[in-house]
Amino acid sequence: MLIHIIAAARPNFMKIAPLYHALKNERWCRVKIVHTGQHYDSNMSDSFFQDLMLPDPDIHLGIGSGSHAFQTGKTMMAYEDILFKEAPDLVIVVGDVNATMAVTIAATKLGIKVAHLEAGLRSFDRTMPEEINRLVTDSLADILWTPSEDADENLINEGVGKEKIVRVGNIMIDSLELLRETIENSAYHMELNLTKRQFGVVTLHRPANVDQFETLEKLCNILIRISKKIKLVFPIHPRTKKFLSQYDLLDKLKTEDGLITIDPLSYIQFMNLVFNSKLVITDSGGIQEETTYLEIPCFTLRPNTERPVTVDIGTNQLCGIHNVEDRIFKMLSNGKQQSRIPELWDGKVANRISEYIKSNFA
Ligand code: UD1
Repeated sequence: MLIHIIAAARPNFMKIAPLYHALKNERWCRVKIVHTGQHYDSNMSDSFFQDLMLPDPDIHLGIGSGSHAFQTGKTMMAYEDILFKEAPDLVIVVGDVNATMAVTIAATKLGIKVAHLEAGLRSFDRTMPEEINRLVTDSLADILWTPSEDADENLINEGVGKEKIVRVGNIMIDSLELLRETIENSAYHMELNLTKRQFGVVTLHRPANVDQFETLEKLCNILIRISKKIKLVFPIHPRTKKFLSQYDLLDKLKTEDGLITIDPLSYIQFMNLVFNSKLVITDSGGIQEETTYLEIPCFTLRPNTERPVTVDIGTNQLCGIHNVEDRIFKMLSNGKQQSRIPELWDGKVANRISEYIKSNFA
């Protein structure tokens, strides 16, 4: 049985790694990694392959950057060629990036089975490109592996047959547990002269936060004010860097003593910062989950989340420009709130998936 595992952009790599490692030595399948090339900088892609002990991709489509239609269309055309040649028995897509949707459309139209890992998440906000990708992918995929109960409910509410929905848990926790010792031993925070629990980590890259001058300037001012109370380290995503430079905001951040601005980090370096941080400010999806698992307060600069379990029982709070400072200062003076770790976020997701494929397909 030939299985293709698809990866495209940074948040995909920690989701495919545990799956690849669980399947690579199985005798009943052959597994190939297909990289579409949506992310291509070494610190957005190669460094993750190294940290996560992944081999070079078997197939690289080299799609690169562009508009949504450009990325989606080019990925569909390039991957369709591969499908004609390889005829895999199962294609596994993860997350909600453009390639997740593009590959699902191309494979489904050729009658090839698709499984979506991290299915069922919904922000109910169709201004987010990821929400469109999730809706299309889940409506076409044959198998929907979900991380949490709310995801199952979303799919059922959309009329998806129960037989397609399999709750497997959160695969990112597998990567985190796989590399926990290396992450803890790396002590990367000490290289930046940061002291455990005396700094915050910032990541921002959503178009709604970084593309417009007004919002980005306000966010920069907020970060500067927070950094006067607690040191902040900010690895800057290429999209954000482009806009910060264009709007002359980058130098303003760089001159602040309490704000450390750096290039995007590898998985191990970044997770070492999160492990040792006091708080995280982000608009990422995955980091909301990692902080919930690590029980570190997370302030998410978004009006909604497709990961409500991180707010309901985890450490996550949704914030906006109007209240993020207040919320952070409150936490710094009152301490963090009680939280719990969702069920099946246990580091054993890849094994559950491997067993599922073996008993249903092999
Ligand atoms: C994409 C995903 C988003 C995910 C994010 C994580 C979609 C719709 N968006 O957003 O869900 O949270 O990845 O990073 O799929 N660029 C580089 N080098 C790279 C990659 C990108 O310089 O290796 C720059 C380019 O100028 C590019 C811009 O970043 O145009 C945006 O990249 P793109 O992949 O289109 O979207 P992201 O914002 O990264």
